[in-house]
Amino acid sequence: MKSKDKILILDFGSQYTQLIARRVREIGVFSEVKPSSISTEAIIKMNPSGIILSGGPETVTISSSQKVHKSLLEAKIPILGICYGMQTIANELGGTVVKSDIREFGHAEISHINQSILFDNVSFDSDSLDVWMSHGDKVKVLPEDFEIIASSKDCKVAGFQNSDSNIFGLQFHPEVTHTNQGEQILSNFIFGVCSCSKNWSTSDIINSMVSDVKNKVKNEKVLLGLSGGVDSSVVAMLLHKAIGNNLICIFVDHGLLRLGEVDEVMSTFEALEIDIRLVDASELFLSKLSRVTDPEKKRKIIGNTFIDVFENEAKKIKDIDWLAQGTIYPDVIESSSDDHNSSVIKSHHNVGGLPERMNLKLLEPIRELFKDEVRKIGAELNTPKHILQRHPFPGPGLGIRVMGEINQERIDILQKADKIFIDELKAEKLYDSLSQAFVVYLPIKSVGVVGDERRYEDVLALRAVETVDFMTANWAHLPYDFIGKVSNRIVNEIPLISRVVYDCTGKPPATIEWE
Ligand code: XMP
Repeated sequence: MKSKDKILILDFGSQYTQLIARRVREIGVFSEVKPSSISTEAIIKMNPSGIILSGGPETVTISSSQKVHKSLLEAKIPILGICYGMQTIANELGGTVVKSDIREFGHAEISHINQSILFDNVSFDSDSLDVWMSHGDKVKVLPEDFEIIASSKDCKVAGFQNSDSNIFGLQFHPEVTHTNQGEQILSNFIFGVCSCSKNWSTSDIINSMVSDVKNKVKNEKVLLGLSGGVDSSVVAMLLHKAIGNNLICIFVDHGLLRLGEVDEVMSTFEALEIDIRLVDASELFLSKLSRVTDPEKKRKIIGNTFIDVFENEAKKIKDIDWLAQGTIYPDVIESSSDDHNSSVIKSHHNVGGLPERMNLKLLEPIRELFKDEVRKIGAELNTPKHILQRHPFPGPGLGIRVMGEINQERIDILQKADKIFIDELKAEKLYDSLSQAFVVYLPIKSVGVVGDERRYEDVLALRAVETVDFMTANWAHLPYDFIGKVSNRIVNEIPLISRVVYDCTGKPPATIEWE
């Protein structure tokens, strides 16, 4: 990074906290999220150029709510409070916050009252600006030495400032796209008030990470569990650039991968001259899964067996000092309800608990990145496109897509059907517009006719979803003709399947995987 400038975001529980962090980075400055309970001393140690207090679901009108520490407001660090963040500033500095008679939610228009650096280069169309509000409380009385900078019809104090102490508040959300010129308002705070320099472009990130890894690892060896998914693949590319052949990757084939995936991953990384070692443990996994039908049991068996296999393999390699993991920033934020930011293990690919057990140091080079940033740096590191643009694939693989008992015959059928579905999606240029698509094996006998014969055979379900964050998802409205074509190919090309159904359930109430 060119400079150490960073904006700290204190999380008061808003659904938009991560979005604020992303917006700051998009503007070109590093940002970090911390819980609102963090102490002022800890913040001062971090030396942020400015602080943004997020919104939140609480009300400052009750005493048990989270508050901004008064000492932070006196620490001479520029502060911008958004929504709840503004209200807690007002409350701590002697202003008054009241429950509003009218809950403002959604679009509102603000007008510009007193001159403010936050509105530099923001054009107010016929004196008003479209913004996004979401609040029940509002500031009624300003703290001493504060002035109003914006008002809306229902909210007189839609923005305030004390420009001498560089403390600002906005009742609306500049981070959401519905707020017109919200990015300009945030930029004015980041560059105009906090005097940050740009330090967060893709090449800055890569250079800083490569030198970070080199400094930490020096001439020691690093082991990485590579799954062929986006995160671990980008970690492999980054570490290969930083430490070359001191990176050793292990790729465990648990027998529950997609058709042709083992060869594809191996040949991709071998062609990049990355040291990748394949462990074929498919028989072991299959035997451990034999006759198991409970989904949670399946997950546990797959996870534990993965760790055993990985550990065994790792022990065969001499002189390893580090274990790398593809932890990314959302995992870190989700796991840090306290100040410790312990890294979570999101799936068995992130070989949980192994660093301690094997006495290895933990290396998490992309733990500060959001998923879209991982893809961007992956592209700049020349990670092959087919790897970067892949739909996510769960760690337990087809193990959670075969309902009931898992056996080789069912896996073979599912792999073939999945390949037909995915190949057709790619051929029709539908693949990239979907977030995830796959086939599920349903071991329920359904009647079919082949020739003159009635046969009872199993069923396959097609699943395709569109989602931004995988927390909620819509089922994809694929063209009927397309679904028909895939269904025809499956029943014609795969014996033992007589019926194909399409899953038209959103999340919620369903999940994306069937388990
Ligand atoms: P659900 O089924 O919970 O899935 O709606 C949300 C997303 O998570 C993926 N998924 C997993 N990914 N290990 C992973 O790495 C897992 O154990 C796992 N389980 C579900 C799922 O494919 C979807 O993208």
